[in-house]
Amino acid sequence: MTTQFGPTYVRAIAPYVAGKPISEVAREFGLDEARIVKLASNENPLGMPESARRAILQAAAQAASELGRYPDSNAFELKAALAARYDVPPEWITLGNGSNDILEMAAHAFVEHGQSIVYSQYSFAVYALATQGLGARHLVTPAVKYGHDLDAMLAAVAEDTRLIFVANPNNPTGTFIDGAALEAFIAKVPPHVVVVLDEAYTEYLAADKRYDSIAWVRRYPNLLVSRTFSKAYGLAGLRIGFAIAQPEQGDLLNRLRQPFNVNVLAQAAAIAALGDTAFLEQSAALNADGYRTLTAAFERMGLEYVPSDGNFVLVRVGTDDQAGERVNLELLKQGVIVRPVGGYGLPQWLRVTIGLAEENAAFLAALERALAPA
Ligand SMILES: Cc1ncc(COP(=O)(O)O)c(C=O)c1O
Repeated sequence: MTTQFGPTYVRAIAPYVAGKPISEVAREFGLDEARIVKLASNENPLGMPESARRAILQAAAQAASELGRYPDSNAFELKAALAARYDVPPEWITLGNGSNDILEMAAHAFVEHGQSIVYSQYSFAVYALATQGLGARHLVTPAVKYGHDLDAMLAAVAEDTRLIFVANPNNPTGTFIDGAALEAFIAKVPPHVVVVLDEAYTEYLAADKRYDSIAWVRRYPNLLVSRTFSKAYGLAGLRIGFAIAQPEQGDLLNRLRQPFNVNVLAQAAAIAALGDTAFLEQSAALNADGYRTLTAAFERMGLEYVPSDGNFVLVRVGTDDQAGERVNLELLKQGVIVRPVGGYGLPQWLRVTIGLAEENAAFLAALERALAPA
């Protein structure tokens, strides 16, 4: 008999499937790395802002000693910059190694093994992983038009529910809940249940869709807003995100947080990026242009897509349950990496990140070829 390590609930975890790296696709399909287009992980196609690059070089140059020492565990300067930006005390901010780290910490901080977590069908994969990793119960509500059904989520709250995950906009569907509906929902959640509002893509929202969730944090002690530097700020490789919540929550998160979870370079780059509003505006404008290009092409090609407020679009590439994988393979052969979402229960769809104009064009050309009758 083979020995089985670990709890059953950990063995039941389906590991997170990340977007394929460029080098792997180049090796596997015998392609030139330079010609591969990666639109698979909702990164900023502009890369990191120049301001952040300079801050990193400066931090690295300051003396080898800076990188030879542990980072400031409390990230004094970055928290001060975030506190000023959002007009909250620094104690209301908790930093994460990516916002993924925040989501995991929140699950561990607020939920006990056996208690339950509510999240929506088709919402970000990490909610299921964090729930399963704790041995907590999943209360998954059916999506409506691929997005969150807030009434159903409220109705699903059980006696043992301690946390609700809401992504706005949601990944992988790009669906958006308007501010008024979201606040009405938060107001109705029982005060002992924490709402983790995951706003990884909030910087991409059009001006008329923005809402002030930080004002809600002041009003609702059970609200935690999660943000990231990985998307519009262009720092995915550095791994840095943050939570804004009242200090009773932050205190618990910080007990679980690994003391040096955000490295020296990430802290320096984030301070620079936070002040770089020009880069954010450029990123949002490029994204809006790319969205128009992609969706116009999908309409021309007769492909269904889910209207998106993020930096990606979910598009239906067939009507059989092999369609996503089949078309994905045809795209890979042409050096285009997107994300199949069969793992989300969407086997007929692909999620494509909005790229630079030439990347979008390369994807669309490859998609037309992939879908052309043999
Ligand atoms: C909705 C959502 N939340 C959180 C994350 C985590 O991002 P990171 O850990 O890079 O901040 C992602 C990444 O794709 C996401 O789509």
